Amino acid sequence: MQIDMSLTRRGLFVGTGQAFAAIALAGPGAAEMLPKMTVTRDPNCGCCGNWVEHIKAAGFPVDVVKLDDVLPLKVKLRVPEALMSCHTAEIGGYVIEGHVPAEAVKRLLAERPKAIGIAVPGMPVGSPGMEVLGQTPQSYEIAIFSAGKQHVFARYRGLQQV
Ligand code: CU
Ligand code: CU
Repeated sequence: MQIDMSLTRRGLFVGTGQAFAAIALAGPGAAEMLPKMTVTRDPNCGCCGNWVEHIKAAGFPVDVVKLDDVLPLKVKLRVPEALMSCHTAEIGGYVIEGHVPAEAVKRLLAERPKAIGIAVPGMPVGSPGMEVLGQTPQSYEIAIFSAGKQHVFARYRGLQQV
């Protein structure tokens, strides 16, 4: 992300030839320049694996840590109990709890609000990684939380913001 932005900025100020070089650099490699996400998940949970695939498909490099009990990490990272879900991820200084759409993670990283992280509590049907064949996606809220407070960051139905 940082490398990506500095390249773009540099592209605006250098001569045409160099600008083309900068664009060429930022182009195909841009996806790899998203910050790496570390996902801690239960090894036996299929929906966690599906969510990781969704995040990878959006261009994030991902490290997966498999842990039988993710709860102590959630507590350590200050995920409020009411917002807990299955997996817990860390990226760019934020905590991402549960089946959060990749698009919302990108918005969080672009806006960089003062917060601990964002969460989709529970496991709403139709959220990324929780698609169930033949079932209508539920609408759900993404909460943004900091110590002692939380509010709605976005509302989604399936992969669509509503
Ligand atoms: Cu899940
Ligand atoms: Cu999960």
